[in-house]
Amino acid sequence: MTPFYISLKPFLDYRKLPRPTLWNEIFANQKPLEVEIGFGNGEYLARLAESRPDTNFVGFEEYCERIHKTLRKLSRVNNDNVRVLRMDVRPAFEYLFSPESISYIHCLYPPPWPKKSDIKHRLFTTDFLKRVNHRLTLNGVLKIVTDHHPYILWVQEQLPTSGFKATLKSIAASYDTKFERKWVEGGQKEFYELILTKEESMELPQKKEADVKLYRLNHFDPHHFQMKPYSESGIAVVFKDILYDEAKKTALIHLLVNDEHIFQNIRVVVYQTPQGWQMNLAEGTMMMPTAGIAKAWELVYEAAQSRV
Ligand SMILES: C[S@@+](CC[C@H](N)C(=O)[O-])C[C@H]1O[C@@H](n2cnc3c(N)ncnc32)[C@H](O)[C@@H]1O
Repeated sequence: MTPFYISLKPFLDYRKLPRPTLWNEIFANQKPLEVEIGFGNGEYLARLAESRPDTNFVGFEEYCERIHKTLRKLSRVNNDNVRVLRMDVRPAFEYLFSPESISYIHCLYPPPWPKKSDIKHRLFTTDFLKRVNHRLTLNGVLKIVTDHHPYILWVQEQLPTSGFKATLKSIAASYDTKFERKWVEGGQKEFYELILTKEESMELPQKKEADVKLYRLNHFDPHHFQMKPYSESGIAVVFKDILYDEAKKTALIHLLVNDEHIFQNIRVVVYQTPQGWQMNLAEGTMMMPTAGIAKAWELVYEAAQSRV
């Protein structure tokens, strides 16, 4: 059977990448690095990679089906200068890039979240813009293209203190991507291109990584394991459920962990050994080692040790 994506070569598993990632080592060259956020079906990313062999490209997208379509297009690119990851770009910018390592960031048609109640989901908040600034080289550019004029006005409101100079242009459809074609078919003629050039460097503290090490437990009762929801200082941890395999003496604890905008599902495995119960992160669990993960770890440890 031929896989739909043809080749997985450009696909990277972010859990296996060093933090920060040395992209020049991944590409095995010193070419400048550009990023596309939310590449959708990958038309633009594939064109960039094909037409600019002197540049390396890294793309981020959350939808699996769109990544499959993109991998298909990338299999026809004649250069080995593009990689794609399935992940939210926000933790990617926090953990996978060194300061001043990206020369250009492209973002075509980010979700505008037009409803007032959904504005909190918009990507280019001041905090995220500062993070983007920190990862861009001096005079590096973030280009945002949208069909939704209120979105551009909102991004402009986020700009003060983010270190960018802004130039806004009204343009005709120019990118021939799936979403752009959709708006064109719907009759839209005018689009907006915001070019943000890094003028001033933002100072940002490097986030500390959580140390999720193997724990030994003095006591663990899988039949009565309970954990209260936790919410403080931008971190929330919610216990979802516990599965226990009596024969294998192994429990799997499912948690939801939220750090500001980073939302993670993790599973902690607690298993019996001749030396007692041990607690570890279940293999394959998606994880960025945030402060929320460290807190979740501590909470599971405390809850497991407590006798009800
Ligand atoms: C409206 S679509 C545009 C897709 C493509 N750029 C185009 O023009 O056809 C927005 C895309 O951004 C992706 N996206 C939205 N927020 C994202 C995030 N935080 N990280 C990565 N991708 C994101 C979505 O999954 C979606 O595919």
